[in-house]
Amino acid sequence: MTSTLLRGRTLSFVRWPQTIDDHSAWRYEEDGGLLIRDGRIVAAGAYTQVEKQAGEGAKKIDHRPHLLLPGFIDAHVHFPQMQVIASYGAELLDWLNTYTFPEETKFANAQHGRRIARLFLDEMVRHGTTTVAAYCSVHKASAEAFFAESHDRNMLNIAGKVMMDRNAPDGVLDTPQSGYDDSKALIREWHGKGRQHYAITPRFAITSSPQQMEMAGALCREHPDLHMQTHLSENHAEIALTQDLYPRSRDYTDVYEHYGLLGKKSLFGHCIHLSEREADALSETGSVAVFCPTSNLFLGSGLFDYQRFRHREKPIRIAAATDVGGGTNYSMLRTMDEGYKVIALNGEKLNPFQSFWQITRGNAEALSVADKIGTLDEGTDADIVVLDARATPAMRLRMETVETLAQELFLLQTLGDDRAVREVYVAGRAAKTDLAI
Ligand code: GUN
Ligand code: ZN
Repeated sequence: MTSTLLRGRTLSFVRWPQTIDDHSAWRYEEDGGLLIRDGRIVAAGAYTQVEKQAGEGAKKIDHRPHLLLPGFIDAHVHFPQMQVIASYGAELLDWLNTYTFPEETKFANAQHGRRIARLFLDEMVRHGTTTVAAYCSVHKASAEAFFAESHDRNMLNIAGKVMMDRNAPDGVLDTPQSGYDDSKALIREWHGKGRQHYAITPRFAITSSPQQMEMAGALCREHPDLHMQTHLSENHAEIALTQDLYPRSRDYTDVYEHYGLLGKKSLFGHCIHLSEREADALSETGSVAVFCPTSNLFLGSGLFDYQRFRHREKPIRIAAATDVGGGTNYSMLRTMDEGYKVIALNGEKLNPFQSFWQITRGNAEALSVADKIGTLDEGTDADIVVLDARATPAMRLRMETVETLAQELFLLQTLGDDRAVREVYVAGRAAKTDLAI
């Protein structure tokens, strides 16, 4: 049995860091070691200690002076939108109708889906992201393509075929019955296969009829262990149209509540314009609000109130995500840089430890997979990113004046991107490749 011994500056979180000085919230080893066997971390700590457990045959890889962190997690992304990213000039509903729905019709072609799924997962890994919660297109073949590529790479990913049966072109519509049947078949085929997780994925209230919402609710009841992902309260025109389409609902959140879609494994993208009642409903059910800063800025949707959600009397669980292709970057470093600015516009700050907690352990907890990923704890899967804070000339120059770990992390977040990612391990295997278009 071969094992791998990584050496570097290891950083992993124990819990949410209250302040920048909350040292017991993380574990940092200046000269750290990670012993990996069968895709798992079997020992972690000071290098000299871990090395003793490694045995003669261990393959040693020295990443000093770089940082070793748990692989980043992206809690909301649309893999069929790789050729939508960077589409000019529209707010949400026009952006969907002009760019996104036409692009997603192409995923009726299984070969196209397979190609984009391959490029998408390569690109995520290149950016240090080892787990995503992904939306596929409406086509069953797109989800098959995604899961096949994900399984081949032995990645832990969460994904689902989008359910949508109205208010979009015919080429991206299913029906309540076919949406249910295709989801059911995909769950049977992929959920629990290796590291694959299926997410029930009604796109949002505008593109699902009440009959389809019923079907989504039925799937959640039949599979209570599965994730559910959708969009909520992103844009004012979207909220108004939703209210027209579901006139009996108290508010947007109530549409999903009515069909039994709230809960601990429910992920709601955006959540920008929630009322207090809606925020309470998310909190009381343990639902997760997903912060997508680059997308919210790009589409002009609004400012997610991160600190209020965390600190209100009934706090809301939060995840962070790129939301590519509404989002404008694949990097979770770029995402948290923009996130920091959104939070600053709300008069608050997110310190660098909180940021890196969010994209590792925080997102793992929000996705209910923290027993497997999101830390460098012994017994968890060896999904690891290697970060170089001197990756570019500007970063190297700024690093000359950096004195603390907090400053280094903030530099990585503010100036870093895929160039700062030196290596990525997926279940213990070096996985970073350059994109072969
Ligand atoms: N709401 C419904 N579908 C989408 C999507 O693809 N992207 C974003 N940002 N919002 C949505
Ligand atoms: Zn989205």
